[in-house]
Amino acid sequence: MAAEQCRRLLMFAITAWVFLPVRLSPKFVSWGVRALSTPSVRPYPSSTDSLNEVFRSKIQGQLILAPLTRGGNLPFRRLCSDFGMEVSYSEMVYSRFLVKGDRREATRMRRPDNEKFFGVQIATNQVDEGVEAMKMAYESGADFVDLNCGCPIYEATRRGLGSSLLRSPKKLEHLVQGMIEESGNQIPLSVKIRLGCSEDSINVREVVDRLRNVGAAAVTIHARTARQGYRRPADWNMIQQVVEDGKAQGSAVPIIGNGDIMTHYEATRRMEESGVDACMVGRGALIKPWIFQEFKDGLEWEPSLEDRIEIYYKLTSYMKDYFGDDDMGRKKMSYFLPWHFSFFNRYQSYPESSFKEESLTSPLIHRRIELADDASPLEILFHHGSDDAHARIADTLWSSLNSADAIRQLQKFAESTDFQEIRERIEIEDDNEKEDTTELANIPEGSKKTHWKGRKSRERRGPKPLRTPEEIAAIRAERAAKKARLEAEQRALADSP
Ligand SMILES: Cc1cc2nc3c(=O)[nH]c(=O)nc-3n(C[C@H](O)[C@H](O)[C@H](O)COP(=O)(O)O)c2cc1C
Repeated sequence: MAAEQCRRLLMFAITAWVFLPVRLSPKFVSWGVRALSTPSVRPYPSSTDSLNEVFRSKIQGQLILAPLTRGGNLPFRRLCSDFGMEVSYSEMVYSRFLVKGDRREATRMRRPDNEKFFGVQIATNQVDEGVEAMKMAYESGADFVDLNCGCPIYEATRRGLGSSLLRSPKKLEHLVQGMIEESGNQIPLSVKIRLGCSEDSINVREVVDRLRNVGAAAVTIHARTARQGYRRPADWNMIQQVVEDGKAQGSAVPIIGNGDIMTHYEATRRMEESGVDACMVGRGALIKPWIFQEFKDGLEWEPSLEDRIEIYYKLTSYMKDYFGDDDMGRKKMSYFLPWHFSFFNRYQSYPESSFKEESLTSPLIHRRIELADDASPLEILFHHGSDDAHARIADTLWSSLNSADAIRQLQKFAESTDFQEIRERIEIEDDNEKEDTTELANIPEGSKKTHWKGRKSRERRGPKPLRTPEEIAAIRAERAAKKARLEAEQRALADSP
């Protein structure tokens, strides 16, 4: 028994003896039981400096799972923890809704038993609301809170949240200072930012300086501006510059670098070259959750497709545990699991021996994913980018008895005319623009506003009629001609003086 509990047991016995007349009252007994079973002191020291020191020691040298709306759901984080993930963030929680009692926001603060050091990411621009959310996160068992200052989506920025906080570094400083001071040193507060709002307003160095001064536990820098999509590589030189500023100032505030990490050797190199305290990974973990194991071992793992299906089956069973193994659970799962396949389908192995050189010049996450010419139907299915295929995979995993059964069922589907039809329909619907943007960005189609709009209006119009084989052949021929024409034009341009 802990010393603290022994002390309390003794005090309880003495008090009970002294106050003999009340010692048998049920209220008194229940007070005693509660005092003995609830730890009154959280394992944190009481000043911001020592709070931050604990935080620092936990994150030092780690590969951290990024906050990921939708992707960072509890079953997915449980899976990552199985692969040795040490530090992680919740999906973003809107503080305003949380403090008003929105249950959906509150469930985002839940964590699985195996998650080691877990932070709740909040979006707020108000001190009092932020403080209340910090308190709620602390009470729900979070180890730290992170303030989102990077989210570029309109839903957040129109409310003055996310990346719009970068517009005024001074206001952001006051916000963070207020939240730290008024939250009573219960829980560390880190901040996640971008380089700036846009390329002509890059202010990361000023923002980090201000955050250092007011006692942020750490600053994570996603090395892009809010306006930039994912097409251009993250600017790690800028991160390095911020780290050097900190060294020159003698600052102890850790910097976490983020952007374009896909392999353990890219993470290690970024850490060494830029001098950051830790690295954060988003899409790389969504594509291969075992990246945490690879990072720990310093060695890549090249799972077979069967190994991967076993992992996806495990994720499905974690979703069953969390959402419930019934119709309602299946409905909840259908929002998350198919979506995960729009990342899982981008898996490709990048052994260090073959890809290290290339990773030095361009991040591997930007590589186009190639499927071998002799790929099996099952491999084609798991590489496929269509929502229909993802929904079918998720459904099959959910209803399979075990992973071997899932492999059998999925194999059957991959060889079926149903899948053939999906493939043909998607090939027709795909256009060059999608190939150029979605593939390179490693972002699922649903996250792209333009694509989303297209899908909505298509849903309203109802399903497209299936084309005849002749129509399909004609469309393919037309596309091939267009591609050849474009290539000829490009060659002519390149040859011109
Ligand atoms: C699907 C998805 C959801 C994201 N949601 C959040 C979020 O809620 N909060 C946040 O700060 N960043 C969010 N991000 C950004 C990531 O945390 C990370 O900064 C970004 O993806 C760059 O890291 P990467 O190159 O390793 O993916 C999201 C990114 C993706 C792809």
